[in-house]
Amino acid sequence: MIRCAAECDTRNSGPICRIVRRVRFGVTISRVQAEIAAKRLAREGLTDRCQVICADFAELPVEPHYDAMVAVEAVVHSPSLENLLPSLADRLRSGGRLILCDDWLTDKDRGLAARERCLDQFRAGWRVGSLHTVAELVAMSERAGLRLVEDLDLTSYLRLGRPRDHVIRLAVDATVVVPRLRDRLVEMPFWANMIGGSALQAALSRRWLEYHLIVLEKA
Ligand SMILES: C[S@@+](CC[C@H](N)C(=O)[O-])C[C@H]1O[C@@H](n2cnc3c(N)ncnc32)[C@H](O)[C@@H]1O
Repeated sequence: MIRCAAECDTRNSGPICRIVRRVRFGVTISRVQAEIAAKRLAREGLTDRCQVICADFAELPVEPHYDAMVAVEAVVHSPSLENLLPSLADRLRSGGRLILCDDWLTDKDRGLAARERCLDQFRAGWRVGSLHTVAELVAMSERAGLRLVEDLDLTSYLRLGRPRDHVIRLAVDATVVVPRLRDRLVEMPFWANMIGGSALQAALSRRWLEYHLIVLEKA
């Protein structure tokens, strides 16, 4: 059996419950999410298979070491991916894999004011600390002793521009009419989510960001 750790989302605990037959530990920074996950795992009779802990993925317990670690839309929130990668690599066994599914910067329109504004809204709204290109990730990973095994661009599989996304965009766009309103709204979790999500949709549809599955392997 693979000994595996996964960052997990517990809004619906979907990913963790779907892949739990292969996952031993889940990690979330949110105590509320960890409690919801514990209840969901208990309800599904999976408590003996998987444990979800509330911890910072940058400060995981020194033991155990894992065959694989999976982070879906999570490492982008790290204040420093450069510092995070060596600490995750330390917790992998030799030959172990780090699987990251996240948003990555591209070089398209780099320096264009509209692009940089959009990316700033994404960073501010979704509390994003680490936005990098895949090339930057690969270089940082190599410094941490991890080599690229696979890079899959999944952007075209995303369902962007659903009717509710248009409604959110209209609401977010309307906030620019009052000076500095958006700066104040971005401090409020509900609006931050709307502003960040809307900027993410715009950036993905213009390919300023791409959504990639990356597999890295420890030497
Ligand atoms: C945008 S959500 C993505 C959730 C999920 N993977 C999904 O696919 O829906 C970001 C997740 O990263 C987790 N997270 C962010 N920073 C973290 C940290 N420093 N340590 C552990 N988990 C963290 C949050 O708890 C949250 O569950």
